[in-house]
Amino acid sequence: MFYEPAAGHPLPRDPFKAIVAPRPIGWISAVDAEGRVNLAPYSFFNAISTDPHMVMFSSEGEKDALAFARETGEFVCSLATFDLREAMNATSAPLPRGESEFAHAGLTTAPSRIVKAPRVAESPVALECKLVQIVPLTGLSGRTTYHMAIGEVVGVHIDERFLVDGFLDIAAMRPIARAGYFDYFVATPETKFSIRRPPGG
Ligand SMILES: Cc1cc2nc3c(=O)[nH]c(=O)nc-3n(C[C@H](O)[C@H](O)[C@H](O)COP(=O)(O)O)c2cc1C
Repeated sequence: MFYEPAAGHPLPRDPFKAIVAPRPIGWISAVDAEGRVNLAPYSFFNAISTDPHMVMFSSEGEKDALAFARETGEFVCSLATFDLREAMNATSAPLPRGESEFAHAGLTTAPSRIVKAPRVAESPVALECKLVQIVPLTGLSGRTTYHMAIGEVVGVHIDERFLVDGFLDIAAMRPIARAGYFDYFVATPETKFSIRRPPGG
């Protein structure tokens, strides 16, 4: 089959988010100017540069993560893992602005070193970020409701139980990734495989 998304789709549900999948989940915490804490998952999230280390998340409208990051210029991404899947999902609830999703999901805040926003204490990895820019997304028909927040990673937390001979054993953390519909994937040691790049690549 073939369809042109600008004209809709012929399926019961739009398959786009099932096609571009699995997507890593940025579990974004941020504080506003009054110090109120926010936490929510974003699967329009990825690493986009290593020099410097930068990540982005994209918000459909001005959600709290974006609004708080815009206000204080900082955010943190914690890693969502299989053990934390229910808590991660609970933090996507539309709570009133300023009501902490940490408490709502039974999670603990751990202080960050450089930024004010806390990280998820139960998560094995967290990236402290300073906001670099917010890009309003434009499509072929003009402005969308989406905004992409780009942050430079200024601090990295790693639970040393997951370091083996200096290498990160990411599969042992069982990170989860978003597919379409209500589906997720989990990365495990069994599903990991390695391929060397072509010579000269
Ligand atoms: C796994 C998962 C991924 C999500 N990814 C996004 C996303 O990339 N962009 C977005 O705008 N909302 C996304 N959402 C929905 C937000 O998490 C939800 O709207 C949340 O209430 C926003 O919280 P905030 O306003 O506190 O930032 C996602 C939800 C889940 C469960």
